[in-house]
Amino acid sequence: MNELPVLKIGKHQPRYPLIQGGMGVSISGPLLAGAAARCGIVGTIASVGLACNHPAYNGKNYFEANQTAVKDGIMKAREIAGHGGVIAVNCMVALTDYDRHIHAACEGGVDVIISGAGLPLRLPEYTKDFPDVALVPIVSSVKAAELITRRWQKTYGRVPDGFVMETPKYAGGHLGVTKMEQVDDDVFSLEAVVPVLAEYVARELGPDVPVIAAGGIWDREDMLRAFALGAKGVQVGTRFACTYEGDAAERFKQAYIDATEDDVVIIQSPAGLPGRALKSPFIKQYIEGHVESKPCIANCLTHCRYRNEKETFCIAQALIDAYHGNWEEGLFFCGSNVTRITKKEHVEDIVRTFFPE
Ligand SMILES: Cc1cc2nc3c(=O)[nH]c(=O)nc-3n(C[C@H](O)[C@H](O)[C@H](O)COP(=O)(O)O)c2cc1C
Repeated sequence: MNELPVLKIGKHQPRYPLIQGGMGVSISGPLLAGAAARCGIVGTIASVGLACNHPAYNGKNYFEANQTAVKDGIMKAREIAGHGGVIAVNCMVALTDYDRHIHAACEGGVDVIISGAGLPLRLPEYTKDFPDVALVPIVSSVKAAELITRRWQKTYGRVPDGFVMETPKYAGGHLGVTKMEQVDDDVFSLEAVVPVLAEYVARELGPDVPVIAAGGIWDREDMLRAFALGAKGVQVGTRFACTYEGDAAERFKQAYIDATEDDVVIIQSPAGLPGRALKSPFIKQYIEGHVESKPCIANCLTHCRYRNEKETFCIAQALIDAYHGNWEEGLFFCGSNVTRITKKEHVEDIVRTFFPE
């Protein structure tokens, strides 16, 4: 394939058809998103838990401080990105204050909202005063995309501006399927889903509306394979987490550099979803069935087994610990490509390997 597709997401068009994926908590904050957007790709801030790293947070006002942090984060990312950069915010449907994340992102002037970890069925309602903000659900199946499209059309007279199709087989973080045995099921592979989804989207939503492939994309070759399947863009997470510009602590990045195949595990997260992560001492204890968690921070999830059943652990706390580089106590989410990381890279160099031209 000589001609690369043009990635148009609603009214927004990055120079290159690549999205730096949202990674919480604070793994893709304003520094990484700004650097990505500066290089001509979409830079994505993960909105979850940003409060914990913001001066407005006083230990009691988690939800309010998070809104401030989202707005400030967008502003900071824009400063870094300079003129013309495309900034997205990733908002998880599973959050108790999901609607407030969306409002804050819109009020902060975001270009695109990318939303998964649940079906974003009410997203257009929360963005109705901001018609220029493009809306991109994350799905793992055509069925989910159809359901969202039909509901949005019927209830709001609006359709998605694209879909991220994320395969659980390789992606990092929560994996978009509910059962452990689905993680490796080829029914959810890019090869199985992207062509059918692309065909559906072209027919129902128009030829320009993109399907963006995610999960296990490492380099230009992987990207071209996804384009050949019908994708018009790709989203990359793991590789961008271990960059000089990445927001996470040095120890987080070192854990990525050190990781071998034996260190990568699938856990049942407190949200009740499978997630891919590194076997840190904390996660090893969790797998062995004797983990002691710090207290719940803020009732952040609508379904939380730690809050409701006193099982598992406080995921917000464990992710914040990872962001700070606390190897002993952190939950280090990662995609399976983590084993290919041998050093920190500059965002610009990664973008160049995808688009040498
Ligand atoms: C550390 C980490 C945190 C993540 N957090 C989120 C998140 O908060 N919301 C989300 O939708 N996806 C999240 N993801 C998924 C990424 O956005 C991305 O789609 C996925 O990792 C792509 O696969 P790759 O890592 O193989 O490139 C996370 C991934 C990683 C590695």
